[in-house]
Formats: sequence, C-alpha cells, structure tokens
Amino acid sequence: MHKVLVVDDDKVLQQSVRQALEYHHFVVDVADNGKEAVTKVYGQKYDLVVMDVNMPEMDGIQALIEIKKHDPSVIVLILTAYSNVTDAVKAVKEGAYNYLEKPISSENLVALIKRALKARSMVETVGFSSPTLSIGETSTSKDKFVGESNAMKKVFDVISKLAKVNTPVLIRGESGTGKELVAKAIHYNSPRKDEKFVIINCGAISENLIESELFGHEKGAFTGADSRKIGKFQFAEGGTIFLDEIGDISAAMQVKLLRVLQEKTFMPVGSNREIKVDVRIIAASHKPFEEMIKDGSFREDLFYRLNVLPVYLPPLRDRKTDIPHLVNHYINYFNNVHNLRVKGADPEALDVLSNYSWPGNIRELRNIIEHCFIMEASDMIHVSSLPSVVFKDQKKVESSDQGSEDSVIDIEDIQNSVLDATPAAKSSHEVHFSFGTKLAEGGKLDFAIAKDQFEKEFIVQALKLNKGRINQTALNANIPKKTLLRKIEKYEINPKDYY
Ligand SMILES: Nc1ncnc2c1ncn2[C@@H]1O[C@H](COP(=O)(O)OP(=O)(O)OP(=O)(O)O)[C@@H](O)[C@H]1O
Ligand SMILES: [Mg+2]
Repeated sequence: MHKVLVVDDDKVLQQSVRQALEYHHFVVDVADNGKEAVTKVYGQKYDLVVMDVNMPEMDGIQALIEIKKHDPSVIVLILTAYSNVTDAVKAVKEGAYNYLEKPISSENLVALIKRALKARSMVETVGFSSPTLSIGETSTSKDKFVGESNAMKKVFDVISKLAKVNTPVLIRGESGTGKELVAKAIHYNSPRKDEKFVIINCGAISENLIESELFGHEKGAFTGADSRKIGKFQFAEGGTIFLDEIGDISAAMQVKLLRVLQEKTFMPVGSNREIKVDVRIIAASHKPFEEMIKDGSFREDLFYRLNVLPVYLPPLRDRKTDIPHLVNHYINYFNNVHNLRVKGADPEALDVLSNYSWPGNIRELRNIIEHCFIMEASDMIHVSSLPSVVFKDQKKVESSDQGSEDSVIDIEDIQNSVLDATPAAKSSHEVHFSFGTKLAEGGKLDFAIAKDQFEKEFIVQALKLNKGRINQTALNANIPKKTLLRKIEKYEINPKDYY
C-alpha cells in the first residue's frame, strides 16, 4: 500500500483530502506546515507528499526542496490557489511532479496520484513494463519469456509457485541464461507487482559504497556524505530488491544482509536508528557457492537463508529445443527494431546454431541474430551470414551428445566414398588429394599423421565442391554430419572460406 503525507495548514482541507485518499486505500498521514512535513519525511518513508504552498513556519516550496534533498524518489504534488501559477511553476522546477489548483476535486487528485505512482514505478524498473511478462505470453516485447523445452517448462512452473510466496529466492545459472528475467517474472507475477522492483548489481559497486547504497547513510557518516541518503532497501519498501551477483559481496556485507533476512531490519551507515523494512529479496549469481562455502568466502548461513527456494537456469546447450524458438523470437524483435521483414533462419543455419555450445547463452544468441541482421542481404538468415564463432565450437556439444573419438571415420570408408564420388565430381570440378611430405618424414611412415592430412584435405575439397554447405557436404561425401562438424573444428577449417 502506498503511503501519502498530506500537508496543509487548512485543517478542513487537510482532513477532506485525507478522507478521500483513505477511501482509495492509501495510508495517509498529515502535517500542518512545511517544517512538520520535513521532520516526518526524515523519520519515515512516504511514496508521495501532497502539499500546500502558503503555510506558516516553512512554506511548501522550501519544504519541497528539503524533502527532495533527503529523498529524491518521493513524489511531491503541490496544491496552489487558483491565481498562483508562479509558485506552481517554481515548484515543478524544484522537482514537484505536478500541481493542482484549488478547489481540489478528489477525483482529479486521486487520478493524478495514481498516474504519478505508475510513472515512477516505470522509471525505477528500468523501462520494464510489467504486463508483458506474464509467463509464456506471446508478444514482441524484449522481455518476453521464451522456452518450450522441458527444462524451461519446469522453470516457469517454479516461477509461478515462487510468485505466490514471500520467501527469498536464489537464482543460479551461467551468464546470460536469464537470471534477471526470472527475477522480474517472479516480482511481476507476485502480489508486490505494483510496488518497486529495484536492481542492485553487487559486483559493480565498490566495496566501500555498497553499504550506503543498500542501507543509506546519515549526513557526515563519512567523507563526502554531505547530506542524508536513503538506501535501496528503504527505497524498495513494499516491493522486491534484486541483488544481482550476490556471490561478489564482502564478508562484512554478508553479515549485514543476513541480518536483514533474519530480522527484517537494518541500520543506515553512521546511524544507530534501526529501520524495519518489508522487502522481498531475490538474489542471483553464477558463482559456485558450494566451493565458496568450503573455502570460507561465502557464509553458509547466508547461503541457506537465501537458498530456501532455489531456481537453476540450465545453460542453453542443455535445452537445445529452445534454440529455434529463441531465434524466431529475436528475428521478430530485430524486425521491429530495424523495420525489416526477415522471415526466419533456413534449416542449415538453424542446424549450425543448434550445434553450437553457446557459452554466452541467450545473450550471445541475441547478439548473433543481430549480427545476422547486419550481414544478411536476403529475407532469410543463411549459413553464410553466421559469424565464424558458431562453426568453431561445435565439438563440445556434440561430444556430450554422442560418443567421442571412437566414431572417427574409417579411412577405408573415406577412400571408397571418394572413389564413388570422384567420377561425378570430376565432370564439373577437379578434385585433387595431395599427401604432404610428412607422410614419409625421416624415412618413417606415420599412419596417424597421414590419416589426419587426408581427412583435412578431403573435407576441404568436399566443402569446396559443395560451396561450404554443411548438410550438402555431409550428404555428398557420405560423412555423418556430426562427424563432419567435429572434423571442421578439429582441423580449424572455416566453411565460410568456400561459399
Ligand atoms: N527464456 C528467455 N526468453 C527470451 N529472452 C531471454 C530468455 N532468457 C534470457 N533472455 C534474454 O537474454 C538476455 C540475458 O538475460 P539476463 O540478463 O536475464 O541473464 P543473466 O543470467 O542475468 O546474465 P548475467 O549473469 O550475465 O547477468 C536478456 O536480454 C534477456 O531478456
Ligand atoms: Mg544478470
């Protein structure tokens, strides 16, 4: 629930605004003048202040300046007399969200308050608009969640369960697997969805600033702290805080976070005031917590507090069925961004993408599709527009999928298939196989070296004949496609050289 402070020396107006707002389920507090308002804002967190301008002790403009200095996130709406537009303009310049002229209609006031709160939550959630992330929904939003694999269906299921409860969550997974997206999905499908979703990247904030960033500080708490500041925990009151890269925080911060998790209280830097907060904590990291606990760099008690309901995001290479869906998703996305009409990726390109190991996971896939949009001149993504990196790393996926070097091609099979292929091939292309001098180096024959040389040469010629097309080459040269891809990787051949 949002908390509003109504500031007016006119008691009748103050109470009628209070009643109107309480009727609309706001939690309302009142102050009789600017000075009292500032004291109240310093003592507790308000979402919004509705304030008159002409008041004894301290006027509304001065109070606005003081309030904004202390907490820039608080929304201030100014109430002005009909003729006093100059004050209103001044107030807006000083950071008021808007002003209303007296007499006030409660309907207009409530509508304006709702609009202001909505605008603020959109800014705070880094441009993320909540309605687009109901899981599995189809839309062109960049925040759409894509996943058809069993692994992702399980993740969606866990998200919908987690959205209903209030416990901390720890999201684990390699870089780019969607940890932040999961955190957003939990928040925006939870009862806290209309409150703030605040992201803190623990790895990006320096050790000596993170405490003040999270918990705030008092004026003069340290050199440079020339005004009081509220921290992200207080700022996120009622909502969710996403502690990204939590594996990077220091031992001292781990103790402080444990306290928030256990007691739901914290103390700003330089203060002995304990502040109570109602914030859901979602944390994420790609770090190996089990090892960090063993070597003492992460507290076991904090880990168990966070890990009540863990979510593990599998790497993309372990959920290959998602790849074509993600490719289509990003094709739609970049069609919108670049105002293009790319229809899709052809089967051969999809095949190469499916066999790649995706060390950067979905973020990398997105980047590669964007690369293709730049490289591809036609309305389909072809192998020729894929970056060379996706050809290089096909082995890892394959070996986890299928046997290993046992399935190397038998040299006799190759020779036979060359013999078979040669007459047809010769009619349009000359195919030559030359054996290097290493075959008889120092007068000694080495079958392994000769075989490698032959294989490499054979594959290069076969690719040349088939214009670098993987499927076609595999068919034409009678090599299982996976073996062909493995050999391309082994011999560092770039099929793009033969398009
Ligand atoms: N299942 C998915 N469907 C659609 N897009 C996704 C999916 N998972 C991740 N993405 C997109 O991939 C990109 C990376 O996701 P995100 O930032 O959530 O990953 P992360 O695990 O937090 O990565 P890092 O550890 O590097 O911070 C984002 O652009 C996100 O929108
Ligand atoms: Mg992230």
